[in-house]
Amino acid sequence: MSDLRTVLQDAASMLIAGHAAEDADDGRLQAELLYGKASGLDRAQVIAAGADAPAPAHLEAFRALLERRADHEPLAYILGRREFYGRTFLVGPGCLVPRPETEESVEAALAAVREHPQAQRLVRVADIGTGSGAIGLSIAAHAPNTKVWCTDVSSEALQWAGKNMRRFGLEDRVVLQTGDLLEAIDEPIDVLCANLPYVPTLDYEGLPPQIRDREPRIAVEGGTTGIEIIERLCDQMDAHLSEHAAVILEVGAGQMAWVEDLVVTALTDAGRPVTKTEQHRDLRGIRRCLEVRTGF
Ligand SMILES: C[S@@+](CC[C@H](N)C(=O)[O-])C[C@H]1O[C@@H](n2cnc3c(N)ncnc32)[C@H](O)[C@@H]1O
Repeated sequence: MSDLRTVLQDAASMLIAGHAAEDADDGRLQAELLYGKASGLDRAQVIAAGADAPAPAHLEAFRALLERRADHEPLAYILGRREFYGRTFLVGPGCLVPRPETEESVEAALAAVREHPQAQRLVRVADIGTGSGAIGLSIAAHAPNTKVWCTDVSSEALQWAGKNMRRFGLEDRVVLQTGDLLEAIDEPIDVLCANLPYVPTLDYEGLPPQIRDREPRIAVEGGTTGIEIIERLCDQMDAHLSEHAAVILEVGAGQMAWVEDLVVTALTDAGRPVTKTEQHRDLRGIRRCLEVRTGF
């Protein structure tokens, strides 16, 4: 029987050939994580056991997980978790897998919370389209001076946010609400964050199958232009923001100028002077996160 190292190498090659892994490093990492899930070992233990023959029961469970991955089920769904901003979020079908670029929004929001005139008291934060709760719960966990409303139109997604809220012990400062955009919010918001769907309908069909066929369409597709839902949020914003407010939005590649114009126009038309606009780039250099402040 082959040793574990060979089994993992073969699995990595299979994942790369089926386009479920990008390159040798990614294939190897995925194989190790899947074997860890199948065997109950952590990654260090999997690597340390490389010269051993895998137990038949572990091998059988591993093959079943590999088949799911080869069938384009997201790795995070199979493992049931994804690391985001230093915490392990539970995820599964029904919620978007949090992406590393979304950590830019958390950074910008935490800076706005620190610099907000209410920072010594309570800063009211909203995360609209919360999914797993990635943005809102990360803010609540890092900034004890916040109360955070996490809303989503999908009650399935909110169930994941609820699991994560309880896992991180944030029930006393987080409110979960189902609803369209800001409709469920009944207090003025100081820091408004949203990572809403922004992929144009025409581009949606061309997405990789692990996104298009597995993650919820409602979490990804943003209508004909891609920014229709963001546009509606901008229309509703004025009625829900406090006097000193920051708006932090994730956008798709190439959408930044368009969305910045929408947000700035919505605020200035409402008689709110814009005091700061900043475009934060993600690790690939794409202008990904827009931050606009008014009143501070
Ligand atoms: C791109 S996902 C982001 C999930 C999470 N915030 C994250 O960054 O990982 C967009 C989320 O917005 C939700 N959504 C879509 N349309 C919405 C609407 N009109 N009102 C509120 N939430 C909406 C989807 O259900 C999904 O959970």
